[in-house]
Amino acid sequence: MAVSAVPSATGTHEGLKFTPGPILLLGPPGVGKGTQAQELVTAWSIPQISTGDLLRSNVSRGTTLGKQAKEVMDRGELVSDELVNQMVADRLTEPDTARGYILDGFPRTLNQADWLDGYLVAIPGSFPVVAVSIEVSYNQLLRRITGRRICSLCKTSYNIYLQPPKVNEICDLDGTPLTRRSDDTEEVFEERMRAYSSLTAPVVEHYRVLGRFAEVNGEQPVDAVTAEVKGAVLRLRS
Ligand code: AP5
Repeated sequence: MAVSAVPSATGTHEGLKFTPGPILLLGPPGVGKGTQAQELVTAWSIPQISTGDLLRSNVSRGTTLGKQAKEVMDRGELVSDELVNQMVADRLTEPDTARGYILDGFPRTLNQADWLDGYLVAIPGSFPVVAVSIEVSYNQLLRRITGRRICSLCKTSYNIYLQPPKVNEICDLDGTPLTRRSDDTEEVFEERMRAYSSLTAPVVEHYRVLGRFAEVNGEQPVDAVTAEVKGAVLRLRS
């Protein structure tokens, strides 16, 4: 399907005038997929679909899926393709995905990529995906993961090394104590990186070969990364 307009990255043509279609944010743990997804949600009014967030929501609600996923996630391994594909399929039926959506943390295996490619081909007139891979060095990823803290009330993300709260371990916005994700230890991070290298790096290559693919430097301030991500999506959709 053709895109209705070729808007600028910063101008007044953003928001509802642009039809972003499906956007994939690819990259290892801590690279900034969730941070950048939130920026695109604000800019283009499309939903962020984070498989990590959906799984964590199932874990905290104690659903059958959450019980199956928790131990796997705490080990830093990947939840089965079957469970994750079904979870994404269910989410994509929601009406808020009509103009597009940002997939954050999905697809993460070649099997998931094949499933998504097939799912979109089966929808008449659907946009092809554009894929943006964010690149950050290993040591920076480790600092981002081990330093991450999250407000349990408003979900604002901080980093004790890179974006600390004004008062140690307390949310600036509502005074709630900050929490740490159970998989944000150095040991689990190493396992997550192993899973990324063996199972997810081939997905990046899959989309590089397909085209409509861009790499951006994630080792810059958030705003600068956002400008690159938005620029890449607009270019790939033009
Ligand atoms: P998931 O929740 O997807 O985790 P992840 O991919 O490991 O990514 P993160 O959420 O840790 O990092 P991010 O890239 O979003 O970075 P963020 O913006 O938060 O998955 C968790 C688990 O769920 C998996 O291990 C697996 O078990 C399971 N799972 C999920 N999806 C699955 C799937 N499809 N298939 C199978 N299993 C699946 O930023 C990180 C930190 O850096 C923050 O503190 C942030 O403030 C900071 N930061 C971000 N950008 C910048 C910047 N530019 N400069 C300085 N600091 C920055």
